[in-house]
Amino acid sequence: MRSALALLAAVCLATTCLAAAPQDKAAKPAPKASAKATKPEAKEPGKNLKVFKGQGLNDESLDEAMDFMAASLGVACAHCHVRDEKTQAWVMDRDDRPAKQMARQMIQMTRALNKAHFKGETVVTCATCHHGSPKPEGIPPLPVPGAPRPMSAEDKVKNLPELDALLAKWVQAAGGAEALGKVAGRLSKGTVEAGPGRTMQLEIAQKPGMRAVTQTTPRGAMKQAFDGTGGWTLRAGKTQPMDAKQIAQARIDADLALPLHLKEHYPSLMVLGRELVDGKETFAVAAKAKDESRLILSFDAATGLLVRRLSFVSTPLGIQSSETTWSDFRPVDGVQVPFKVVNRNAHGASVTTFSEIKAGPVDDAVFKAPAN
Ligand code: HEC
Ligand code: HEC
Repeated sequence: MRSALALLAAVCLATTCLAAAPQDKAAKPAPKASAKATKPEAKEPGKNLKVFKGQGLNDESLDEAMDFMAASLGVACAHCHVRDEKTQAWVMDRDDRPAKQMARQMIQMTRALNKAHFKGETVVTCATCHHGSPKPEGIPPLPVPGAPRPMSAEDKVKNLPELDALLAKWVQAAGGAEALGKVAGRLSKGTVEAGPGRTMQLEIAQKPGMRAVTQTTPRGAMKQAFDGTGGWTLRAGKTQPMDAKQIAQARIDADLALPLHLKEHYPSLMVLGRELVDGKETFAVAAKAKDESRLILSFDAATGLLVRRLSFVSTPLGIQSSETTWSDFRPVDGVQVPFKVVNRNAHGASVTTFSEIKAGPVDDAVFKAPAN
């Protein structure tokens, strides 16, 4: 994880990286947190904001800033926030915990550092020093015996394949254009482990461009479906339409022939360099989606398959990443399909293991929103 971001930074310097991709030289600089700003008339979130006051935050960007701090320090909300003694409800506006006060000072310190030394760009962040610990390490680490030598910066960018060759190899590795184009329906069953006592049963029904997911826990089921144009989530008897962001992601997740359509989903693609993912050499490709979201796709250098996706969101305090890795590929109807998927983001990690994935007819009814 850290090395992938180091690569991103090394090759093209944090946020400005993908904005500087050849296709969009004239494009505006990477969006700053203020791109998320609410309209001036919208009410600011929070009752007791001091350092974020007047910064144009909304509920979403405030949440993202909180997740960013928690992930940078490797702590939960309770490190800085308290619950009401009687009701046990969170009272986020209270300043009881010294860590919250310290965090305010740290936000100001970080801003001052970036202003004085990095032209006001968000270069130094909480994660720069904290790296997942509340107490940053001031002593350099000692070498680990037997650890592989890290790839040199030169080796990372030496003899890189052309993008088109990389994509062609992926199509081949995934089963070939013909097999990919023929997939008409797929049914998958498995389990999602999201931590102790948090196991879910998972069922996915897919047709080209359509996808329905059912997650079942002892407490109930959650269904989500995308029918090619719109989608919905059914939770606790209530149906909610997908928002634009969810639809953009669902469109990609629902593509059963993704290797054939990658350039349509991501108008800007650029080979960045070599990177180790789970000890295996991969080629990292920077991608920008139609909605301007940025990610890095990693292709196994040996097999040619897509093995990882890193997504980034810009928060008021810096860039937050989330990761999906795919492994245990097996052929299903002539197409290589991952039987293991690992997701990691600021909120936690989950491992999905499929017990069965098979080709099969899927009824269109599963994609239709239930009447509320
Ligand atoms: C490292 C400390 C830290 C962590 C961890 C943290 N927060 Fe905060 N939180 C703060 C600070 C500091 C403020 C006040 C910001 C300001 O003064 O502008 C704040 C403010 C808030 C507010 C606004 C409260 C109000 O009404 O004024 C909410 C809501 C909130 N946090 C939620 C969360 C949640 C949810 C989490 C866990 C995901 C979390 N925070 C984790 C430090 C933290
Ligand atoms: C330039 C390095 C640096 C940056 C950047 C930085 N910190 Fe710190 N932070 C430290 C150091 C060093 C300490 C430990 C101070 C000590 O031990 O007395 C610390 C301590 C803290 C503590 C108190 C420790 C604890 O147990 O809770 C909090 C909270 C904290 N930082 C939050 C943040 C947040 C939030 C950010 C980003 C807005 C941030 N820091 C950015 C260096 C940094």
